[in-house]
Amino acid sequence: MTTAQEQRAVPDPSAVDLTDPQTFLDVDPHAMWRRFREESPVHWQPVNGSRMPGFWAVTKYADVVDIYRNNKEFTSERGNVLVTLLQGEDSASRKMLAVTDGPRHREIRNLMLKSFSPRVLEPVVAGIHRRTLELVELALEHGELDFVTDVADHIPINTIGDLMDIPAADRERLVEWNTQTLSRHSSEDSALDEVMARNEILLYFSELAAKRRRNPGEDVISALATATVDGKPLSEDEIVFNCYSLILGGDESSRMSSIGGLIAFSEHPEQWRRLKSREVGADSATEEVMRWTTPAMHFGRRALVDVPVRDQVVRAGDVVTLWNSSANFDEDVFADPYTFDIARTPNKHVAFGHGPHFCLGAFLGRVHVNAMVEALRTRVARVELTGPPQRLYSNFVYGYSGLPVKLTAEPAA
Ligand code: HEM
Repeated sequence: MTTAQEQRAVPDPSAVDLTDPQTFLDVDPHAMWRRFREESPVHWQPVNGSRMPGFWAVTKYADVVDIYRNNKEFTSERGNVLVTLLQGEDSASRKMLAVTDGPRHREIRNLMLKSFSPRVLEPVVAGIHRRTLELVELALEHGELDFVTDVADHIPINTIGDLMDIPAADRERLVEWNTQTLSRHSSEDSALDEVMARNEILLYFSELAAKRRRNPGEDVISALATATVDGKPLSEDEIVFNCYSLILGGDESSRMSSIGGLIAFSEHPEQWRRLKSREVGADSATEEVMRWTTPAMHFGRRALVDVPVRDQVVRAGDVVTLWNSSANFDEDVFADPYTFDIARTPNKHVAFGHGPHFCLGAFLGRVHVNAMVEALRTRVARVELTGPPQRLYSNFVYGYSGLPVKLTAEPAA
């Protein structure tokens, strides 16, 4: 139940600006989303100075899942995140999987799934566990460190980097561009930095894809560069935009879940004990870390026709945003949602989305979080935060650019 005092501290939905990254730093997100779900679950937010007059914010789990599933009445082709949806279009439309619908989406998705299915990735899993363990062991030698820059930043980028055969020397640059594209370190970084980072990544892959076309190898870029659908090769734009989406998807969200997981364990000693004592398995803990951290706070769609949602009618052409960070804490679906419970079951969260655009890299994302949970469980005795976590400035990624911690090793067996 929400107390009167909490209610006062949380702005009512009409006073919240979901386009402003600062909102997500200023407000307690759980309390904010609870008010949305209770008072205005299908909420219209007007926007000034944009090509769109405003957008819907949908916050109940059942509605979020319904709209994710409904690619007949809602399209991803005019953008799938707030920033592009409000511009009225996405320059990657019909070139990048996430912003393509219909038969072309199915064809390209099937093609890409060949590189990302659990069966194909099985040989990569042991390597992810090994790399994570090595980094956690190195961190333990230092004791005090920044968990973001010293540990988490080096794991998923190297997995996706290996799969795409990206030269090792280029990977650090890509991590920095990734962070700038989806979010900012602070309000002082400009929106121009985001655009420039995106262009740097596109240019980088355009050069690499051209090389792989001439001289293909066993990697995912070569697979895209040499694939044919209905006897025709993919266009250069399709190859480059899909590489862009793999490097962003492959790195940023997995990194943020692992970091958020470490914070969650440091703040919930009882759950840390249950993990350490093996009372609860790492797979179950991984799912709860995914729900608890929900790194992709929202995705979105454009309505193609008028669609009633609860007591509102979403009109053809309207922008609809689906807030995973609310749906994953909906009291109607999750018992005691604000409790971090690593044994939670069922746990059908929407951290990876739902329906036809369900995350292509969900298996890989889970493996990364699982490897971190296992490494912490087996090697680390105690986690202490030694300074405040530095949150990213974003209305899309919930995550961190810095996390000072002290890790204490388990005594050698
Ligand atoms: C789609 C989240 C890891 C690549 C999505 C969507 C979500 C999501 C919510 C749905 C987007 C929509 O409906 O518009 C996450 C999270 C991850 C993660 C939380 C990690 C913890 C990955 C990884 C990869 C990846 C490791 C790459 C290998 C993609 C791609 C799509 C996608 C290509 C588009 C799929 C389609 O449109 O059919 N992701 N993702 N993601 N993700 Fe992930």
